[in-house]
Amino acid sequence: MMQVSDTIAAFRKALDAERAAGKTVGLAPTMGALHAGHASLIDAAARSCDVVAVTVFVNPLQFGPNEDLAKYPRPFENDMALAAQHGATHILHPSVEEMYGPTGSTVLTTIHVAGITDTMEGAVRPGHFDGVATVVAKLFNAAGPCRAFFGEKDYQQLQVVRQLAHDLSFPIEIVGCAIVREADGLALSSRNVYLSPADRAASIVLSRALDAGAALLRTDIEDLDAARNEVARIVAGEPRASLDYAEAVLTDTEVRLLVAAKFGTTRLLDNLGVPR
Ligand code: PAF
Repeated sequence: MMQVSDTIAAFRKALDAERAAGKTVGLAPTMGALHAGHASLIDAAARSCDVVAVTVFVNPLQFGPNEDLAKYPRPFENDMALAAQHGATHILHPSVEEMYGPTGSTVLTTIHVAGITDTMEGAVRPGHFDGVATVVAKLFNAAGPCRAFFGEKDYQQLQVVRQLAHDLSFPIEIVGCAIVREADGLALSSRNVYLSPADRAASIVLSRALDAGAALLRTDIEDLDAARNEVARIVAGEPRASLDYAEAVLTDTEVRLLVAAKFGTTRLLDNLGVPR
């Protein structure tokens, strides 16, 4: 049976009771409008934890003034059904007031993860990652000790959350989950519903560009510039796409190609890792 909490205290109490009964807790933090990508997080949590909790909260702090906060989809009944189908038994669905106090009051504490938030999404969306880090810290405190599952689709967000959990010593293990794609390659996103048919058709340029960049890296893993330029060149060749950035980031184990572009008013992200 699904236990829906609309307060942080009720959610914490329910998950404390599970832990007191010896159960491990898996957490999938979301903004709702759940799709197969979120389902894969809930599935991964269900595979490795005894109980699964989902949070559904459209976080105003991570939206810029001209972004889609008001029109962001909020199909909560569907979200509950999908979460239940995939084995979740707890949902936190708080109001903005529950999370941030009475309307009009100001949040005085925010969390800023330095350095890794300066580029890409952080550069294009000032303040976005402070909003993400602040809400994720609050959700972690609401959930208590657990394993938390985040999608690699928001790759930079995943790094920010890992850093935050480490730096602030949250008793939480962060697990990254692979991107889920449509059959034609488009990465699943709650924002895909905004795309016009023509933009939906054009949007596959992102995964196509990443594949082409990855092919170059497989011939020369050192040449990050060539791979990044190839991604940028292919996206720029799609008249319906307006490129925000294409990047190639070197990590210990791989080169990660990342891209963001607008199709009409809809901004989409995608990324792909190539092992070193
Ligand atoms: O990835 C998301 O859905 C959100 O950014 C998150 C992590 C739930 C924070 O609001």
